[in-house]
Amino acid sequence: MAKDLVEFRNLETHFKTSAGTVKAVNDVSFSIREGETLCVVGESGCGKSVTAMSLMQLIESPPGKIVGGEIMFEGKDLLKLSKKEMSRLRGNEIAMIFQEPMSSLNPVFTIGKQITEPLLYHLTMTQKEAKARAIELITMVGIPRPEKIFDSYPHELSGGMRQRIMIAIALSCNPKLLIADEPTTALDVTIQAQILDLMRDIKTKMNTAIMMITHDLGVVAEMADFVVVMYAGKVIEEAPVLELFREPRHPYTQGLLKAKPIINQRQERLYSIPGQVPNPVDLGENCHFHDRCEFCMEICKVKAPPLRAHIDGHKTACWLYEEEGKAQ
Ligand SMILES: Nc1ncnc2c1ncn2[C@@H]1O[C@H](COP(=O)(O)OP(=O)(O)OP(=O)(O)O)[C@@H](O)[C@H]1O
Ligand SMILES: [Mg+2]
Repeated sequence: MAKDLVEFRNLETHFKTSAGTVKAVNDVSFSIREGETLCVVGESGCGKSVTAMSLMQLIESPPGKIVGGEIMFEGKDLLKLSKKEMSRLRGNEIAMIFQEPMSSLNPVFTIGKQITEPLLYHLTMTQKEAKARAIELITMVGIPRPEKIFDSYPHELSGGMRQRIMIAIALSCNPKLLIADEPTTALDVTIQAQILDLMRDIKTKMNTAIMMITHDLGVVAEMADFVVVMYAGKVIEEAPVLELFREPRHPYTQGLLKAKPIINQRQERLYSIPGQVPNPVDLGENCHFHDRCEFCMEICKVKAPPLRAHIDGHKTACWLYEEEGKAQ
């Protein structure tokens, strides 16, 4: 098995709000291996983006703060690096693409300027070398007439092209880790499929590890090697993708998979998990899913189950599996 590239160890990121403290990321541990695509899934507000932003150290502070844990990257704790050391890694060894490419591209600079900037800063290329590399990158992400695009401004491009440019910028310095936060949600379905193809292609060619955040289980099925399921700031299940789809163990994951419409099968009504995500401000020490869970037991109401490995390496945080968890 490939080596761990990133290891989140007991990460805790909180936000102080007028209503109280939001434990957005509440004791999260998981690893991303070299060259692997790991998808993080879960309902809105469960802490996916905050986990990624904690890694990038782009948490707005105040109100946010990383209050505990470690984020190991190639054996170094990112949380112990200076601002300068972190900014050298960002955009260079670790790059990120966001959901809405228009808000991440600067409208007043040409595409060429925005692609060459990291090349000049991180790789200290000359202007001429940077331009040649930028043209190469624009071609690599499948955009025709790269010279013309080099001199264009973001508003002259379509949404799909802008997202390709964001990918080109992210890949410009050959990062070891690419974080993609809902990279295709704002795009229409055909463009979405093309962008996913492109990312898969890149991963194979460059062996980049990808941490992909998505709501969409279709995207997970197509892209992931490994899946981490989050609920209310915690990891509640993790497994290789086929394993997770074949045998989801946590009742929440089972619900998520049931909620996905099955193509070519008429369903009377789309299943949705009953109840709502709990208020993030007053989360207790119990299982945060207990009041939505059809298997809820007494212990679930008072004590949170630990995330434990089963014999096959599949991990679940659920009291239903506790005996098996102990037997590893
Ligand atoms: N700047 C902030 N101030 C206060 N609370 C915040 C802030 N940013 C995030 N949160 C809270 O942290 C929790 C996790 O948010 P996060 O953005 O990680 O969710 P998410 O899983 O990415 O959801 P989505 O799928 O909607 O993007 C939420 O309860 C959110 O309200
Ligand atoms: Mg998010």
